[in-house]
Amino acid sequence: MAFDLDLIKKVYSEFEQKVNDVRQLLGRPLTFTEKILYAHLTNPATRAYDRGVDYVDFAPDRVAMQDATAQMALLQFMQAGRSKVAVPSTVHCDHLIMAETGAEADLRQAKTESKEVFDFLASVSNKYGIGFWKPGAGIIHQVVLENYAFPGGMMIGTDSHTVNAGGLGMVAIGVGGADACDVMAGLPWELKMPKLIGVKLTGKLNGWTAPKDVILKVAGILTVKGGTGCIVEYFGEGATSMSCTGKGTICNMGAEIGATTSTFGYDDSMSRYLKATGREEIAAAADAIAQHLTADPEVYANPEQYFDQLIEINLDELEPHLNGPFTPDLATPISKMKEVAAANDWPTKIEVGLIGSCTNSSYEDISRAVSLAKQVNEKGLKTKAEFTITPGSEQVRYTIERDGFLDTFDKIGATVFANACGPCIGMWNRVGAEKKEKNTIVHSFNRNFAKRADGNPNTYAFVASPEVVTALAIAGDLTFNPLTDTLINEKGETVKLDPPTGEELPSRGFAVDDPGFQAPAADGSGVQVIVDPASKRLQLLDPFAPWEGTDLKGLKLLIKAKGKCTTDHISMAGPWLKFRGHLDNISNNMLIGAVNFFNDKTDNIKNQLTGEYGPVPATQRAYKAAGIGSIVVGDENYGEGSSREHAAMEPRHLGVRVVLVKSFARIHETNLKKQGMLALTFADKDDYEKIQEDDVVDIMGLTGFAPGKPLTLVLHHSDGTTDNIQANHTYNDQQIEWFKAGGALNIIRREFAA
Ligand code: F3S
Repeated sequence: MAFDLDLIKKVYSEFEQKVNDVRQLLGRPLTFTEKILYAHLTNPATRAYDRGVDYVDFAPDRVAMQDATAQMALLQFMQAGRSKVAVPSTVHCDHLIMAETGAEADLRQAKTESKEVFDFLASVSNKYGIGFWKPGAGIIHQVVLENYAFPGGMMIGTDSHTVNAGGLGMVAIGVGGADACDVMAGLPWELKMPKLIGVKLTGKLNGWTAPKDVILKVAGILTVKGGTGCIVEYFGEGATSMSCTGKGTICNMGAEIGATTSTFGYDDSMSRYLKATGREEIAAAADAIAQHLTADPEVYANPEQYFDQLIEINLDELEPHLNGPFTPDLATPISKMKEVAAANDWPTKIEVGLIGSCTNSSYEDISRAVSLAKQVNEKGLKTKAEFTITPGSEQVRYTIERDGFLDTFDKIGATVFANACGPCIGMWNRVGAEKKEKNTIVHSFNRNFAKRADGNPNTYAFVASPEVVTALAIAGDLTFNPLTDTLINEKGETVKLDPPTGEELPSRGFAVDDPGFQAPAADGSGVQVIVDPASKRLQLLDPFAPWEGTDLKGLKLLIKAKGKCTTDHISMAGPWLKFRGHLDNISNNMLIGAVNFFNDKTDNIKNQLTGEYGPVPATQRAYKAAGIGSIVVGDENYGEGSSREHAAMEPRHLGVRVVLVKSFARIHETNLKKQGMLALTFADKDDYEKIQEDDVVDIMGLTGFAPGKPLTLVLHHSDGTTDNIQANHTYNDQQIEWFKAGGALNIIRREFAA
């Protein structure tokens, strides 16, 4: 169905030569990450690229898209003028399925509700040579790991957890739909050469500790910003002794530390996984060049010489962690949770434990969780919290059903949701969430920003391994430490949970009846793609207007966002997902989650034309109607979170011209540039304080817009005074052309038309 063996053989046939050339050019041993990066340059390197400085063009091997982001990516691709995608690409229907009562009913409901979108994606895929994974087939990253990821490959995907494929030795990077569109159109993909963080894992996982705890620990060390602009490479005996899917979990949550991606060198665990998932030929091909599919030996012997930063974690001593609430980097070792929860007044009664998602739904994960679920009956316990499972793919679901795991979960009253994102993306119709009561949940997903899972800002969500989630759900108590604490069973006896056990891979092999894959037409020229002009879900795109060629004057301050402003705050998920293919409709969620610096409220800002306070989108529409541009001001790491380009397209569509912040998350900054916006940073971060509520701003120096040259902003305050401040930017020559043309897509279309 699926993997393209010829493509992989071609990559491998050239890999050794390319790696040798680069080693000679750089005159030193290479990390595995560098081997993949340099082997995927559009043009052979002529010098060592400066990490964290140089922009470089890459030629990724694959593109993966999920249904929410694919809509906009493909609407953009349709504008690019090609008859077929230039590289193997797939679409995965996983984000539009609401978790409510259980897999079957929820899937049926989604297929009815989102029929128009699924039909659109299926027909565009069919027409342009894209593999299509139907709703219910599984979550993009699990399906990619099972079918497409390969050691030494490079992939981009329109989802920030594309990085999951690093578990199989890829450099896999989350991008916006505009980037995916470029690569599918056959254009180079540009990235600033990342810095390298090495994580040396000594010792071995044991007992209650799982791969998840490695990344929870790393997140605690590096924080949500610590990996920005970096690729994390894991190595050491702790890495090689871990399963391939465990490596996937670690790489998956690399997105939570802002890392460009993470990866592991090729080893036996990857070979085992490739074979178990029907890819013996790829395992054999990888084995043949195995020494090139990891770092040169000198690198791991003296890592401090080759990485920009080095972290060492001893897995023998690593404790299970719980990260949260409200941010994935607030790491608490399980033995400390009692005191930390008390000190912070966190609600300790667990209402729901949720396992699965793209992060943690491997066969190994589920088997270890089931070993605890079994103990509920064996030890006469009763599960105190609700418990849900979201399998990552139909292959995993089918296999765990065959092996009796779902029966065991059923016996503890668990609900099995569809093989889809569900609660992880806020697609969870949780009973009572609208009451906004303070409560605690614990899950094995990756993100726990406020409102992420159920829309309730008072849900305290903690992230942990599936086995810890299961144990805590059984106990119903956040402060329960299964390593040391006991439980009282239904007979009043004191019992203790045994540590989890599991199987890395199913001893009887994976099985599946219908994996849910639909191959595209060999010749798609006759396939019709239909978009109803009256549709509320889909809207064909109109090109954005080019830059007018002058400085931008008289921009109204739309909002000065305070504190964390993630892509969820800028373009909220949950119920808004259904408008991902309709730019005008989804723009009604623009920045509604951002906190207004001047009144600490969300979605309540001053309209400078009327002096009245109102919602952000309506205020911006009023400026647009009056032909007035605006500026958004933000804090640190603005746009962290996901790759959704809607967070850039919505402000662009509604007439915001500039986003000025203390610092950007990488993907969002690039997305703004792609859409023809000005993405600027304060040269002096203290100037953030100078921005006042009634400010009108001029952007000066645009006629001389050039790489590395700051721009001047004139702030006109309402009392008649002005402040001149400097703003930096990271635009290179090509990105300045995007700005001038009104967006990158305008340039692509021009090139194909020429
Ligand atoms: Fe889906 Fe959550 Fe992963 S939204 S792709 S399961 S991060």
